[in-house]
Amino acid sequence: MAPVIFKNCYSVQPAEPTWTGRLSLTEWDQVGTITHVPTVYFYNKPPENFNVVETLKSSLSRALFHFYPLAGRLRWLPKSRLELECNGAGIPFVEAESESELSGFGDFSPSPEYENLVPQVNYENPIEKIPLLLVQLTRFRCGGLCLGVNISHAVVDGQSALHFISEWARISCGQPLGTAPYLDRRILRAGEPPAVKPPPLDLKELEQPPLMIGAEDNVEERKKDTTVAMLKLDRADVEKLRERANKSEFSDSTRSFTRYEAVTGHVWRSACKARGHFPQQPTALGVCIDSRSRMQPPLPQGYFGNATLDVIAVSTSGELISNPLGYAVRKIREAIKKVNDEYVRSEIEYLKNQEDLKKFQDLHALGSTEGPFYGNPNLGVVSWLTLPIYGLDFGWGKEVYMGPGTHDFDGDSLLLPDHEDAGSVVLALCLQVAHMEAFKKHFYEDI
Ligand code: COA
Repeated sequence: MAPVIFKNCYSVQPAEPTWTGRLSLTEWDQVGTITHVPTVYFYNKPPENFNVVETLKSSLSRALFHFYPLAGRLRWLPKSRLELECNGAGIPFVEAESESELSGFGDFSPSPEYENLVPQVNYENPIEKIPLLLVQLTRFRCGGLCLGVNISHAVVDGQSALHFISEWARISCGQPLGTAPYLDRRILRAGEPPAVKPPPLDLKELEQPPLMIGAEDNVEERKKDTTVAMLKLDRADVEKLRERANKSEFSDSTRSFTRYEAVTGHVWRSACKARGHFPQQPTALGVCIDSRSRMQPPLPQGYFGNATLDVIAVSTSGELISNPLGYAVRKIREAIKKVNDEYVRSEIEYLKNQEDLKKFQDLHALGSTEGPFYGNPNLGVVSWLTLPIYGLDFGWGKEVYMGPGTHDFDGDSLLLPDHEDAGSVVLALCLQVAHMEAFKKHFYEDI
């Protein structure tokens, strides 16, 4: 791939003055991944006289007027807590060029090249100086484009990030705002002290997932080299897995298993086989759950922030491998099922009661070895299956490819819908180099 040459960097502010002041964040904003999440969108060449840079910059500025928290900055509070300063500081928009051609990206499998297509965050800077959103437009020799977006997970979850991006695209096409963001995080009790001590449910499972047998911490596992793969399962394979789980003795008579549950069960088992665990090795599977519709009443439409929480399904490698697929899938179903309004409110309470939030914060991107680790012997499978990730048109046509930027954390995986083939899924998986080939073998041969 040819090098990426940076041409300009503009600072984009909200188009009109917005509210300024300190916005309290919720507990969920401040735990889990609090660094940035990169995504890339590739486009074919726009029409000859379409001014892409000006269109994107001016629509971004108008979008930031509605979503002004993204134009602000974070600041640390005592006890590893964070607050958002809404100060309209703005966001960087980088314009770049490359002699590469779109066709050179093949099937767009993640490559180190992606790092040059998404603006990188310098976490050595004080947090007050770090933008919450960074955008880069790269123009290729063929006229094709890549829009790289890096957005702070301390401010938005996937649903809210995509809400913002799709409204930006609507504005760029000259359409009015579709759904206004609901910015008041007090609905999830942001900034309030704990109401109940101790919280109603005991949620010790939130602390640290299992370690390798014999290890006292996960430092060694974190050091191992990792690699990323995009693994497709076509619709027939997905249905085969789902049917096998639904027909097993572990089926759930109340509701059949979903694509997510069936494929994730298969991923969990394949990882256990590939990692060659002892049968008695405990292992956790992390599921990221959107609480929006699980709360009573549901969160208002357009709630803008983090409304997701992580739960784990726990088993041993031996049980997962020796039982049929339905066993793993049922474990995942049970972990998801327990998340109701009471669970959600208890978790908020539980986090509010914590003296310090540091141990719940994943600062892997900053080289930290603390915080939750879903690498060996564990795994996290985040569903993007129901997120509106495709069809982003800023005025010159929809993307030809959308995908996650680089992610390099052992056990970190995403399940995406295949944009060309409804019913098929793509697993974006990061594993230790030593386990990836064995994983692929089990993933495809044991269907
Ligand atoms: N659009 C299209 N289909 C939808 C949908 C939507 N908005 N919402 C639900 N469905 C479909 C699902 O695709 C699934 O059908 P399938 O089995 O054919 O795929 C069915 O309805 C049930 O979906 P759901 O109740 O969401 O269960 P699930 O097992 O697919 O997923 C969770 C379980 C916990 C992952 C999911 O409920 C969830 O919370 N997802 C959000 C994850 C998220 O926020 N990711 C980003 C993190 S930053």
